[in-house]
Amino acid sequence: MGRVICIANQKGGVGKTTTAVNLAASVAITQRRTLIVDCDPQGNTTSGLMEGMDTPPRLNLYHCLCGGAVISEAVRPTAVPYLDILAADQNLVGAEIEMVSRENRERQLAILLSHVLPQYEYIFLDCPPALGLLTLNALVASDSILIPLQCEYFALEGLSALLKTIELVKSSLNPRLEIEGILLTMFDSRNALSHHVANDVRAHLPQHLFRVVIPRNVRLSECSSYGKPVILYDVKSRGAIAYIELAHEILSKYATKGVGNDQ
Ligand SMILES: Nc1ncnc2c1ncn2[C@@H]1O[C@H](COP(=O)(O)OP(=O)(O)OP(=O)(O)O)[C@@H](O)[C@H]1O
Ligand SMILES: [Mg+2]
Repeated sequence: MGRVICIANQKGGVGKTTTAVNLAASVAITQRRTLIVDCDPQGNTTSGLMEGMDTPPRLNLYHCLCGGAVISEAVRPTAVPYLDILAADQNLVGAEIEMVSRENRERQLAILLSHVLPQYEYIFLDCPPALGLLTLNALVASDSILIPLQCEYFALEGLSALLKTIELVKSSLNPRLEIEGILLTMFDSRNALSHHVANDVRAHLPQHLFRVVIPRNVRLSECSSYGKPVILYDVKSRGAIAYIELAHEILSKYATKGVGNDQ
């Protein structure tokens, strides 16, 4: 059974999509069957993995949640071996509205993913920058949440609201939800503020912080405009190495628990 990890933070532009795409690709290159689900109507994960696809997938998450499409027919391979994608586009905005009146409205994604769970070892969910129904669906469908925090002013702003939401989801809708970890992103070693933020987070939340810190690296921002993860764009870049290390940090946690190594 796959481990489902959502990448969430209601703060915008903190590196959620960059982390989802590059972590998923770095896990997939270890030959673990991996699925990435774009849960954001902005569709940035989808465009970030478009290389090799002439047109966006005809069926995407919206059609599965609201149009009765079968998930296995909407999932598409990417240019990265072992990595599949369930895409999204702006239609997904409508899903939040359409799902509101449904029974089990917060379990729709979990129900959907249950059909493909046995086929994957890891499933990553890229969330939109909001604590709305799509993010709630992602939290309910997940085993754990990975929280990217940008090494900038106000990094911790909103974190307590997110942690409160996680506790709420855990106590009501999804008791198995864990915090996979907090990931410092866009760290700039020449910038005193980056060090300040990193030390602040280390002081407040040491138990949840990943050892790996993602540096600010131009290759990470360039690669998405080519529709490919950084390992296919510049595997020797500091950004690529950091995400490969993050994948190893996560995989090594589960190697002994039997997740991710059941070929
Ligand atoms: N480590 C990094 N180094 C340099 N640029 C980065 C890095 N991480 C992300 N970026 C850039 O910062 C911007 C925001 O990143 P990203 O899209 O991953 O954030 P996000 O949290 O998904 O945003 P949103 O909340 O809008 O979904 C993008 O232009 C991305 O290319
Ligand atoms: Mg994003």
